[in-house]
This record gives sequence, C-alpha cells and structure tokens, in this order.
Amino acid sequence: MIEKEPSEVSVGRADFVHQWPASRVVFGPGKISVAVSEAARFGTRFAVIHDPTAQSAADRVASDARGGVRARIGEVAQHVPVQAVTEAVAIVRGARAEVLICIGGGSATGLAKGVARELALPLVAVPTTYAGSEMTSIWGHTEGGKKTTGRAETVRPRTVVYDPELTLDLPPAISVTSGVNAIAHCVEAMYAPESSPMTRVAAAEGIRSMSRALPGILDEPRDVAVRGFALRGAWLSGWSLEVSTTGLHHKLCHILGGLLDLPHSPLHTVLLPYAVAHIAPAAKAETRIVLESLGLTGPVTDAGGLIWERHRLLGAPTSLAEIGMREADVERTIAEASAALADRPLPPRPIGASGLRDVILTAFKGDRPAA
Ligand SMILES: NC(=O)c1ccc[n+]([C@@H]2O[C@H](COP(=O)([O-])OP(=O)(O)OC[C@H]3O[C@@H](n4cnc5c(N)ncnc54)[C@H](O)[C@@H]3O)[C@@H](O)[C@H]2O)c1
Repeated sequence: MIEKEPSEVSVGRADFVHQWPASRVVFGPGKISVAVSEAARFGTRFAVIHDPTAQSAADRVASDARGGVRARIGEVAQHVPVQAVTEAVAIVRGARAEVLICIGGGSATGLAKGVARELALPLVAVPTTYAGSEMTSIWGHTEGGKKTTGRAETVRPRTVVYDPELTLDLPPAISVTSGVNAIAHCVEAMYAPESSPMTRVAAAEGIRSMSRALPGILDEPRDVAVRGFALRGAWLSGWSLEVSTTGLHHKLCHILGGLLDLPHSPLHTVLLPYAVAHIAPAAKAETRIVLESLGLTGPVTDAGGLIWERHRLLGAPTSLAEIGMREADVERTIAEASAALADRPLPPRPIGASGLRDVILTAFKGDRPAA
C-alpha cells in the first residue's frame, strides 16, 4: 500500500471543470520578428497600440508590415479610462483595421482589449511587463473612480508573442512589483477551490520561475536568460489567472485600486503577504506549495510574514502608506471593503468585517503580518 503524505491528499479536489483556453504562444528572444506574421493570420490591415516605452518595437512591427499598419496609438493609461477606449475605437475604426497588435504592459493590453471588445477584432499581444493580462479573457475599464471588469472570449489575444529582449529596460523596481503581481495570480489560483490539478502545477511553476528570476534581475537587469525566466513565470501566471477564479487578494486590490487610484503592481505586492497570512491557516497544504515554490522555509502559519520579509529583501514596497494611501483614506477604505467583501464566502477562508479592518490597518502601516 502506498503511504500518503497529508499534503498530497488534501490539495485540490477530485471534481472540477478545466476548460483549456486556445491562445497560441510564441516564446523566445527576438520573437518580435513574428508579430506581423502572427497578425497576418487574421487580416492584412493592422492597428498597433503600444506603451510609449515600446516605440522601437512598434517601429519594427510597422517596418515588417510594409505599409500594413494603418493606425498607431502610442499613449496608454493605467486602469483603462473609458474615454481612452472611445478615442482608440474611433481611430481604429477610421483606419478600417482588421487586426490589433498591442505591445506593452497591462495598460497597453487593457486598452487593446477595450477596442477588441467594442469592434470584435482579433488581437495579437506582445507583453513587456509581467502583468499576465495577455493570457486572459478579462477586460477592465474605469469611469468616475469605479473600475468595472468582466470576461469575454473576444478580448483574449489569439497569439501572444513573448520576447524577453523587449523587457531588458523594464526598471528593476517595476520588474519586482510586476513580478510579484504575477506571483500573486499564481497564489490565488493555488487557493481557488475549483482549480484543476493542471492549474496548480502551472501556478507552482509560475511562482518558481518568477521567484528565481527576480533576484537575478536586480543583479543584472539586462540578462536575457533571466528575463526569459521572468516572462515564463508571467505566462504561467496569466494562464493560471485565466483558468481559475480570484479571491481575497485580487478583490481587495480591485477595491483599493478603484477607490484610491493606487498603482496596480505595487498595490498587489503590498497586499499579498497580508492576504496569505489570513488564508494560510485554512489552506495549509496549498500554502506549503506556495512557500516551497518561493524557495522559503518556515512554518506555514507564518507564510505571510516570510513573504513580507522576502519582499523587503527585494526592495519592494511593504506598506500602503508607502505607495500613496493617506491616513485620511483608511476608514472609508475599510468601510468600502467591508460593504463589498465582509459577507462574501471568499473561499478558502471568509474574512468578515473585523478581519478586513485588521488587514487594511496592518497593511497601511506595513507591519510584518503576525503568524
Ligand atoms: N485583464 C487582466 O487579465 C489583467 C491582468 C493583470 C493586470 N491587468 C491590468 O494591467 C494594468 C497594469 O499593468 P502593468 O503592471 O503592466 O502596468 P503598465 O502597463 O501601466 O506598465 C507599468 C509601467 O512600466 C512601463 N513599461 C512597460 N513596459 C516597459 C518596458 N519593457 N521597459 C520600460 N518600461 C516599461 C510603462 O510605461 C509604465 O510606466 C492594470 O490596469 C491592471 O488592471 C489586467
């Protein structure tokens, strides 16, 4: 008889639905060279939406397309303002583009998704951060301080081209928070009750890839191999996000991001240790895998504190105050978060109003989460 380890039998469930999303992924240094041929599978007239820092990649695409790029939008904004989508839709429609190509971080991908959703156009994504949006059917936009998100098959990029050479200039501080944002997607997928065994394997490997890469990026930001590992982590994190559901961490980030306009990846970075500290006692086997994948040793019940320490070593922000939240915002944030989340089941561990108050107050100050 096979002796069963408790962690093996208690991780995941034996009933789940796993739908395999059909994005095509092309991965490797220099692969920006295939962006146009990938887009040409869907049409001949292209619109390029890119981050301002991706100017030369956009020039390269325009040159490869030999006149096929009919519109270029080189301005993007965090959280996809509705007005920006309206303007971009008018430009793309006017150019009669048949395919969208986006190059940049989650903001560029988000704007392109907004246009894809409105005009039902296929999208080829070339990500330059670790946000993971390129792998998902999740769209989002903001209007009047309120963020709205949803899922739609039409916005999921048909091909994703991952080229680590395009990420060499991503500043180390942004690389760290963007990388932790990717790790957070994997952690949430690990905890999501309906995640399939495949999802958990991908999420663990995503955490491993990214957590090995981040110290290397701090040492040598222009090392293509290290950047490749980080991008591989980003791919797996985006995939994990796509095939699972989000929990406490993501939902809290969503509320704080919309209410206070805090920067996306630093916010995800600050809140991750506190969310893990809350959930760990109810999901010990999953948390053990998270810690092992991060290369951390210590008691599972102290996982939040161990992750917090690791973030400090990486030079990441550890308090909400540090990333722009003011003391005057604390009580209204607690009230808003409680109204939205206190009564929700939030598996694997509901939080309630007093738990939310604790998390927000501790994260505001940036204290090490208690074991
Ligand atoms: N829909 C989804 O599935 C999903 C998933 C994750 C994130 N998002 C969304 O993505 C947005 C955040 O994405 P993000 O964190 O990538 O931020 P971002 O796209 O705003 O980029 C962050 C910063 O990095 C710069 N940058 C990007 N690539 C660079 C490069 N290669 N070199 C130098 N600088 C570079 C940008 O100019 C910007 O200043 C949020 O709006 C978030 O809601 C959506």
